[in-house]
Order: sequence, then C-alpha cells, then structure tokens
Amino acid sequence: MQTIAVIGAGQMGRGIAQSAAQAGYQVLLSDTALDLAEKGKGTVAKSLDRLVAKEKISVGDAAAIVDRIIPIGDLARLSEASFVIEAATEREEIKLKIFENAGQHLAPDAILATNTSSISITRMAKASPDAAHFIGLHFFNPVPVMQLVEVIPGLATSPETTARAKALGEAMGKQVVLSQDEPGFVVNRILVPMLNEAIFLLGAGTASIPDIDKGLKLGANHPMGPLELADFIGLDTVLAIMDVFLKGTGDTKYRPAPLLVKYVEAGWLGRKTGRGFYDYSGETPVPTR
Ligand code: 3HC
Repeated sequence: MQTIAVIGAGQMGRGIAQSAAQAGYQVLLSDTALDLAEKGKGTVAKSLDRLVAKEKISVGDAAAIVDRIIPIGDLARLSEASFVIEAATEREEIKLKIFENAGQHLAPDAILATNTSSISITRMAKASPDAAHFIGLHFFNPVPVMQLVEVIPGLATSPETTARAKALGEAMGKQVVLSQDEPGFVVNRILVPMLNEAIFLLGAGTASIPDIDKGLKLGANHPMGPLELADFIGLDTVLAIMDVFLKGTGDTKYRPAPLLVKYVEAGWLGRKTGRGFYDYSGETPVPTR
C-alpha cells in the first residue's frame, strides 16, 4: 500500500486525508500535537458514518478507510511517505517552518506538496530540501465532494514532479487543472474577489445578506451564495487570500472589503466560530444583518 502524509488535521487536511484513504492510500496524519491528529481522524470517521447512513458505503468499507488513517505525533515517520501534503493555516511563516521540519525526514524521492490557496510556490520551495520535488496541490472544500485539484509547479519544480502530482490527484479521483504559479492560481483568483465584492455590496447596503446569496444562487446557478460560501471557507482565509493578491500584484482592485476586515477583527470567522455573515448556533443559519 502506498503511503502519503498530510500535515494539518483541520478542515482541508482532514478532507485530503479522507479522500486519500478512500482511494486506498495509507495516510499518516499529523498536526501540532498528536491529539489534534487523532481528533481529525475522529471527524473523518463521523463524516464516513453519514455516508454509511445514506447507504453510500458499507460499514466495513468505512471502517477500513478509517483504519488506513494513522495519526502521528513524530515527524520521523514522514520517511515512509512518497508524498507529503502540507495543509496547515494559510500563513507563510507557519508553512515555511513546516517545510523546514518535514524536510529533515523526507524519503529521497518523496514529493513535498503544499495545499496553499494563494501563496507563491516558487518562493516557498526555497524552504524545502529540494525545490525540484516541491509543488502546489490545491484541493477544494469539502475535499471528498469537490472534483477538482489544481496542480501548480513552481519555477524550479521538475516535470517529473508535476507528472507525479497529476497522477496522485487522478488516483484520488479528482480532475486536474494545471496552473502557473501566480497569486490564487486559477480558481481562487476568480472566486475570492467575487466573494470580496459581495462583502463590498453588503457594506454599501446595496442588498441584504439573503438577497445577495439568493441572487447568485438563482441568477448564476451557484450552489451556495457568496456570503454563505465565504463563511464556509472562513473569513480569515478569504482575507488572507485577498491580502496575498493585493501584495502579490500591487493592484488595488484586490483591496479587501472593509466589512471583511471588521468581521475578522471581531473574531466572526464564519462557520468554524459559529458566526460570520450568518449565525450558526441554531438548526438553520440565520443572517446577522
Ligand atoms: N465525504 C464524502 N461525501 C460527502 C461528504 C464527505 N465528507 N460530505 C458530503 N458528501 C456528499 C453527500 O453524501 C452528498 O452526496 P449525494 O448528493 O450523492 O447525496 C453530496 O456530497 C452533497 O452533500 P449534501 O447533500 O450534504 O450537501 P449539499 O447538496 O447542500 O451540498 C456542498 C453541499 C457540496 C458544500 C455544496 O453546497 C457546494 O458545492 N458548495 C460550494 C462549495 C465550493 O464552492 N467549494 C469551494 C470553496 S473554495 C476552496 O475550497 C478553495 C480554498 O483555497 C479557499
């Protein structure tokens, strides 16, 4: 059985671990502490229980998938993995530290991939042991459901690494889009400014939260409205991505909406904190403005 490792057991890391385990890989799951990795595995088990309840997978298959996920507290075990995928917080200094630490334990031919949603692959590659074996592999939330993965080679990434990353995405049941290493790659470069624009509209009083979301759901056939989606992604992540675009391009069209900044300052980060543009404390989300 091929082994891959996922660093970060949050929303994205858990989803990547689940998808990889569902595809038959053994997955080493790591976070800043072993109990966080174990908690991440527990959340995957609950997500699989829901699929069992819907009769999408059998009890036995769900148990086998969960068994393939191994929480680890010691990075030395990364040497067992042919791919190490970093899915930590979208902050460059945190990611760089991870690449330095993980880099000391990689197998000789292993690929170190980052699930960054917007930060330069070429720049981060310098903190990895071998830039030719470093690449962006960008998944979408919820990972087990979303069909896409973006593959982003940095300037020094070898063609063989790119081919292996594409093959891994496909083996995980995803469709692959190849992007150059530009801020936000393809999807986020288009999607996140749209979410930011929706927040500008809300701040200007152009329309209410339900009407902005209804507008895009019914007028553009989006599965979620932009404010709902921003809450789902996490408003801190949306803000971090806009900041990367603004800094990376120098173009003020990417300035974050003032209301987005305020919400993040208030700690209203969306679903994960129970409040963003909607309040998630009850059965159904309630608009907060
Ligand atoms: N594992 C496997 N399957 C799962 C699952 C899981 N953890 N969770 C849900 N599913 C399956 C369900 O079984 C269901 O399957 P079915 O349709 O065959 O019954 C299907 O996924 C849909 O689930 P639900 O019925 O629970 O939910 P909805 O129909 O309301 O859809 C949604 C939920 C898929 C989240 C949909 O609203 C959606 O597509 N929203 C947009 C998501 C999006 O845009 N994501 C990208 C964000 S950007 C990003 O991630 C990039 C980052 O860098 C910021």
